[in-house]
Amino acid sequence: MDRRYRKTIVAGNWKMNLTPSEAKKFAASLLPLNSVKYTHIALCVPAIDIPAVTKALKNSHLAVGAQNCHFEEKGAFTGEVSVPMLRDLNVKYVIIGHSERRQYFGETDETVNKKALAALAGGLRPIICVGETQEQRDAGVTEEVIKLQIKLAIKDMTPAQIRRITVAYEPIWAIGTGKTATPEDAEAVCKFIRATLRSFFGARVARSVSILYGGSMNEKNAKALMQQPDIDGGLIGGASLKADAFTAIVEASK
Ligand code: PGA
Repeated sequence: MDRRYRKTIVAGNWKMNLTPSEAKKFAASLLPLNSVKYTHIALCVPAIDIPAVTKALKNSHLAVGAQNCHFEEKGAFTGEVSVPMLRDLNVKYVIIGHSERRQYFGETDETVNKKALAALAGGLRPIICVGETQEQRDAGVTEEVIKLQIKLAIKDMTPAQIRRITVAYEPIWAIGTGKTATPEDAEAVCKFIRATLRSFFGARVARSVSILYGGSMNEKNAKALMQQPDIDGGLIGGASLKADAFTAIVEASK
């Protein structure tokens, strides 16, 4: 992390866990984190939990995030949630292009780009996820894969918009598997992501973007990962559902 130029962010990704009443209780149990000043904390929760979590976090500076949005403002898109709907509930962040959405819900680089642009236009901060599969890593094409995902995700964005995005590097082989990238391997890719942004938008814009690592981050490995110069925090799945572990990860980002 490098706090001179960009924010440190620890975001929980609850995925499809916790009912609204469970979410309300769990969010309230995280309120002691309100005293943390060094890191921005966000809870990316199921859409249906957003009102309960917003209420539980009222008067705190823990932010609420969503895990997906549609790219149209409204219309005949049964089952979808729009950016204005999320904004109306005071949502600040939205995860875009998580590998589970790419894998199970047909999300493509093109929809990721459309959703990210819609989020920015509507006043949300997109957390854009990229990451390679084990096969791609083994074949030595990680950088090509990441570069293409980044390039397509940020298509048509202005420098001012790039300053408002967060990128999450989540190697697919590390998500929910207990296998974490080594700090050095994760740093190499996060540094490459920043270099890619620099090649399109210049050094000043690139250094202002927070790049998070995600994939089996826990209270034990968080510090070594977040100490890397180009890793500005974490996107935490499993460990974000345990108050102790999530708190320890936030503390490791000091
Ligand atoms: P994990 O999930 O921490 O459980 O590996 C991370 C993510 O999918 O965002």
